[in-house]
Amino acid sequence: QDSLYHEKNRPQYHFTSRRGWINDPNGMIFYEGEYHLFYQHNPFEREWENMSWGHAVSKDMVHWEELPTALSPDRMGTMFSGSTVIDYENTAGFNRGSVPAMVAFFTVDSPEKQVQCMAYSLDKGRTWTKYDQNPLIDSKAKWESKDTRDPRVFWYQPGRHWVMVLNERDGHSIYTSKNMKQWTYESHITGFWECPDLFELPIDGDPNKTKWVMYGASTTYMIGDFDGKKFTPESGKHSYTHGTIYAAQTFTNMPEKDPRRIQIGWGRVQQPGMPFNGMMLLPTELRLRTTKNGPRLFSLPVKETEQLFTPAGQWTSLRVEEAREKLKSVDVQDAFRLKTTLKLSHATDAGISLFGQRILNYDLNFNQLNGAFYSPEDMTSMEITADIFVDRTSVEVFVDGGRYSFSLERKPVPGNQEGLQFWGNRIEVKDLQVYKVKSIWK
Ligand code: FRU
Repeated sequence: QDSLYHEKNRPQYHFTSRRGWINDPNGMIFYEGEYHLFYQHNPFEREWENMSWGHAVSKDMVHWEELPTALSPDRMGTMFSGSTVIDYENTAGFNRGSVPAMVAFFTVDSPEKQVQCMAYSLDKGRTWTKYDQNPLIDSKAKWESKDTRDPRVFWYQPGRHWVMVLNERDGHSIYTSKNMKQWTYESHITGFWECPDLFELPIDGDPNKTKWVMYGASTTYMIGDFDGKKFTPESGKHSYTHGTIYAAQTFTNMPEKDPRRIQIGWGRVQQPGMPFNGMMLLPTELRLRTTKNGPRLFSLPVKETEQLFTPAGQWTSLRVEEAREKLKSVDVQDAFRLKTTLKLSHATDAGISLFGQRILNYDLNFNQLNGAFYSPEDMTSMEITADIFVDRTSVEVFVDGGRYSFSLERKPVPGNQEGLQFWGNRIEVKDLQVYKVKSIWK
């Protein structure tokens, strides 16, 4: 069947647009019971062009309804990435009566330069009015660079001002404003690229012990302190994905009773033969947890995603041959989820392959996981746990309770008939759970 949302390669539980190209998530915000996901979008073709802000809303971050395009190119240029806020105190004067404006900050790109602009909506993001004095910031000359983009704005309560984190040339700058219209440059930190984010998180869930996280597009981050104008790093640069998850952004304006920091990243996968291209990764909750080397970011799918999966089998303590037998019950052609704990008996490599593609490749000799460095300092056994989400065109893997994660394009090795296989030298499959998937499309 090839009707809308039922195409052969349509991901079954990842957001995709009806048609056209998508890349970065933009303007993620929770407001009046709805999660808003805007995104870099070419509504007309499968290629990156005509950059606009697409728009979708959801009540649970799992089932999405695509709405009409929110921001379209104008005579200044195309609509690049950015963020949204709610102006509860009417600092910009756009509110109407008791209805606060949703304000979007975005980059307008033209062949000549990239400038920062805003627009506002009084109907929950459905229709937008661009500010008539755009641009707000034009900093090309200052940085002698065209790379000035991706404004991430939030309200800094202790200083009662707005903060904008902006990627400028070689890192992230901080600007502040009282009215969203005039912005003052405050500071800059080098070593980051594109799609900044900056947020405060409790350490180990303790609200009295918090740190700030400066975040770049490749999920590299630094942990430190923020005084409203300047971020002071207290750690080196880390990453929990080594670049396989790109341009993630987190929801703002979460309700007080649910202060989770939830991100969605861009799934850079091709959708062969489809009228759409690219997708969004699963929403995950970010937490700071103490490790032997200090606090680190952990990322795990939000609890709302559990509704997608029905248990289809559960086993413990299997040899590889036994595990192979059990896995025969999985419909490997389609979407499924698999959770496992693997124990290696020799310091070599082991993992799981799907039609010849190594979707989990743990190399203990060289401390590598799917080709990137991975060596948990507090590892005391030769075990690894993996929660693996396979969809029609992608694979997402969360290792060791969210300490490391990565995403892959699903690419069967041509001619390989093997389906799902554990591989490795005398490994033990300590536990194994498989799940069926419910499609999010009606
Ligand atoms: C990141 C990015 C952003 C830019 C957008 C354009 O993937 O390059 O820096 O705003 O994509 O689509």
